[in-house]
This record gives sequence, C-alpha cells and structure tokens, in this order.
Amino acid sequence: MIADFQNWSKGCQTRIETFLDTRLPVAECAPERLHHAMRYVVLGGGKRVRPLLSFAAGELGMADEARVTTVAAAVELIHAYSLVHDDLPCMDDDILRRGKPTCHIAYDEATALLTGDSLQSLAFQLLAEQCLADSAQIQLEMIKQLALASGSRGMAGGQAVDLASVGKTLSLPALEFMHIHKTGALIRAAVMLGARCGNRLRDAQLNSLDHYAKCVGLAFQVVDDVLDAEATTATLGKTAGKDADNDKPTYVSILGVSQARELADTLRRDAFQALENFGEEATRLRQVTDFIIQREF
Ligand code: IPE
Ligand code: IPE
Ligand code: MG
Ligand code: MG
Ligand code: MG
Repeated sequence: MIADFQNWSKGCQTRIETFLDTRLPVAECAPERLHHAMRYVVLGGGKRVRPLLSFAAGELGMADEARVTTVAAAVELIHAYSLVHDDLPCMDDDILRRGKPTCHIAYDEATALLTGDSLQSLAFQLLAEQCLADSAQIQLEMIKQLALASGSRGMAGGQAVDLASVGKTLSLPALEFMHIHKTGALIRAAVMLGARCGNRLRDAQLNSLDHYAKCVGLAFQVVDDVLDAEATTATLGKTAGKDADNDKPTYVSILGVSQARELADTLRRDAFQALENFGEEATRLRQVTDFIIQREF
C-alpha cells in the first residue's frame, strides 16, 4: 500500500515537473535574470503536496489528467510565488528554501518581488488558455476560486494577519482564521479545482469534499508549525525554529507541541469523516491526507 502510494505520488510529481518545465519561460529568453529566477524557485524542489491533492481529487471526480495537470500547476505556481514573498526580509526574512538559498539571496529583492508577481500571472495564464471543464461557466468559476484563494480574502490576507500578529498571543479562533487563510485557502483550491475538472460529483459530494479540504488545509499548517519547532534545518530544507525566532504566534506557541499534534490528528479524523460517503475512489485523497499529517519535512 505504501509502495503503491509512493509510485503514484512519484508519477504525479514527474508529470507536474515536466509540465512546469515546459510552461515556464526558458532562461535564455529576455529578461534572462527574471526567467532564470522563476525557474530556480519552481523547478526541482518541494513536496508538491498541492498538486498531489489536485490529482487525488481529480481521480474522485473522474477528471481528465491533462486538465488536472494544468490546475495543479497553476496552484503550485501561486504557492511558489507565496514562498518567494514569504521569505523576503520584509516578511519572514529567511535565507533557505527547499534546501537552497532563497530567491532574494540567490538573486536580489527586486527580482524576488518580480518573480512572485510573474509566477502569479503565469498561473492565471495557464488557467485561461486551455479547456479545463465541461462548460465555460464552470471554468470561469474555477478561475475565480483560485483568485479568491490567493488574494486578500485568502492567502495574501492570511499573510497580512500573520505579519500583524508578530509578538502577540492570539486567541485560538484568531489563530485559526490566520492559518485557514494563509495556507488553508490554497489547499482548498487545489482540491476543489482538481475535482471540478471532472463532472462526476454532485453538489452534496462537492460540499463534503470542500469540508474535507478545509480540514486538511488547517491540518497542513498545524503540522508546519510543529515541524518548525521539532525538525532540523537539514531535514526541512528551510530554517528550523524560525517561528520562535520571529516571535510568531503558532499552534505550538499557543498550545504546545503535543496538543498541536493532537489537533492535527483530530483534523485528520474530521477529514476522513467528510470522505465517508465515498468508496475506493477516495483512496488517493486518504493517502495524501496521511502523508500531510505524518510527514517529517
Ligand atoms: C510551506 O509549504 C509553506 C506553507 C504554506 C506552510 P510546503 O511545506 O508545501 O512547501 P514545499 O512546497 O514542500 O517546499
Ligand atoms: C507560509 O507560512 C504561508 C505562505 C507562504 C502563504 P510559513 O511562513 O509558516 O511558511 P514557511 O514555514 O516559511 O514555509
Ligand atoms: Mg510566513
Ligand atoms: Mg515563512
Ligand atoms: Mg512555517
């Protein structure tokens, strides 16, 4: 079973890598430095968890693989952009990402800003240039969903709350709000866009899937908080202990490591429950969920 999941996820990772490689501008094309930086931050690294979720949800919705590859790539590009900006000195001020110097260290701050901007634009370009759903209306709704998940009412908004919370002790609802937005929103979009490339799911099933995605999105950041406190820089490929150093409120600073882990397990159970009316066709989603909760980096 584990070997089977590893083979499947490797296949997805190779597919997404090849697709991104062909869709990112070549480094030799002007402006070379910007294109080089875009390729540097996107290719050859990362767990590709969001694409895995899109592919797993795509299987649930019996979606066409080429469609799902496109939406998975778009979400991964938004994610990569969010990491480049998250690492800037004006945000978390990190020097290491995916085992390499961060974009503003390898290039410069202005290039890092423009790299993020350009990755975001490329994501929406991909969603607009190919048929992704059985109707144009559904495709427009999908594009809107990713826009909402990325902007001030999604990831960027959560990042704003994160920065405004430095040095503060947040209530649990406030912490949850921050995590659901900065990380959960994009994970939710990864799941829902993958499923909506197909036409198999009824509204009630899409609602269950959405509930699943919300649980997994929050769980993802709870685990990220735990790993920041418990894992090593070498394992993470990013600087460990950074949240405490930057005086960030996290599930670890508010609840402690063991209660934060318990919360991740509770969210895993809730996520599985949301899938209970699905059968074998949700196996991949269950496996990706376990990977997210049990991961060590
Ligand atoms: C890190 O995300 C940033 C968060 C939203 C917590 P990942 O842990 O998915 O980072 P990569 O893509 O594997 O590098
Ligand atoms: C990042 O959260 C969330 C986004 C990038 C939107 P973190 O700041 O905890 O991510 P890491 O730990 O640097 O990867
Ligand atoms: Mg951050
Ligand atoms: Mg950070
Ligand atoms: Mg973190």
